[in-house]
Amino acid sequence: MTDSSRTITGSETSPVGTDPSDPAADSLLEIDDLRVHFPIKRGIVLDRTVGHVYAVDGVSLRVGRGETYGLVGESGCGKSTLGKAVLRLERPTGGSIRFDGTDMAGMSGEPLRRMRRRMQMVFQDTLSSLDPRQSVESLLVEGMRAHGLDKGGESTERELRELLSSVGLPSSALRKYPHEFSGGQRQRIGIARALAVRPDLVVADEPVSALDVSVQAQVLNLLEDLQEEFGLTYLVIAHDLAVVRHVARRIGVMYLGGLVEESDSDVLYEQPLHPYTRALLSAVPVPEPEVEDRRERILLSGDLPSPASPPTGCRFHTRCPWRQPTRCDSERPELRDVGGGHRVACHYAEEIRDGIITPNSGE
Ligand SMILES: Nc1ncnc2c1ncn2[C@@H]1O[C@H](COP(=O)(O)OP(=O)(O)OP(=O)(O)O)[C@@H](O)[C@H]1O
Ligand code: SF4
Ligand SMILES: [Mg+2]
Repeated sequence: MTDSSRTITGSETSPVGTDPSDPAADSLLEIDDLRVHFPIKRGIVLDRTVGHVYAVDGVSLRVGRGETYGLVGESGCGKSTLGKAVLRLERPTGGSIRFDGTDMAGMSGEPLRRMRRRMQMVFQDTLSSLDPRQSVESLLVEGMRAHGLDKGGESTERELRELLSSVGLPSSALRKYPHEFSGGQRQRIGIARALAVRPDLVVADEPVSALDVSVQAQVLNLLEDLQEEFGLTYLVIAHDLAVVRHVARRIGVMYLGGLVEESDSDVLYEQPLHPYTRALLSAVPVPEPEVEDRRERILLSGDLPSPASPPTGCRFHTRCPWRQPTRCDSERPELRDVGGGHRVACHYAEEIRDGIITPNSGE
């Protein structure tokens, strides 16, 4: 960006390492005990609540300024709901979300609108998230206008051209429509649209899962470049561990609405402690044949339970090869720090790590 008028307030600090166990850490986003429960309605006019889907059920996490936090987990574990709750596209049932030190609960009207500008979402499905009837110019200007950032005339034109150049698209794209682009190019437009309002935080929900593998790396590299250029903080959501490994410094693993493990990316891949994370990683083939031969393979029994009737105790106990009688199915494990900001929600994390408890020993 060469336009000096394009300042991005509050986000120009260089990336900092943030230890979530350190209360003094410079967090941009602080989520505490977040819950999003959807009522299940029955009756002719859907007037009876017969239960709830516990989509997000007690998640706490911190995202440091300038950091990339990767959130992974199987389909339906609550990743998108969490992302939407951060942007207040879903209303939390409980818990708190603090953005840049301000509690967003109870915020409405103008203050909420101003806060929302600072957080933007990039979606997986660009075909449905970009209105096909709008030109790229109109898509980009829409958000700017809503937040009073559209100065009009040559100034806006120049800003849009610079924005497109930042995401690797020519100025000629401005007059075109979403269907005239490839999937990768459309995602670049989606990213440009998010950046047009100069956010501090970008929630990228499965930003590359709809793209060809060859294009995925290009878009991930672009996100990394833009982070530096615009001083962005990212919450990147993916079901594919390889995607977040590529970009995230910290990773949180979700299972059935809860966070089961969280640590720095390298630690998570080299020494996963939660049985679910171990199972997820054991399903990822390794390119080196020698390592591949030694790869631990953990097969999970049973199906993923419904978030409308989650298991008691540890939510993973119905599928965990290490489960132990009584405690695992009666007491929900807290996410606790086992050292250096590595947090695990398993009663027996250390015993499993040290081989004191072995798979199926609790049968
Ligand atoms: N508006 C809603 N009303 C009722 N249930 C919902 C709603 N949105 C999501 N859910 C349910 O909440 C649970 C979590 O959904 P969510 O979309 O957050 O999962 P996800 O981890 O993003 O999955 P995926 O990887 O498939 O995108 C699912 O069981 C889903 O069906
Ligand atoms: S608490 Fe028990 S069931 Fe849950 S992951 Fe740990 S060993 Fe498995
Ligand atoms: Mg999702």
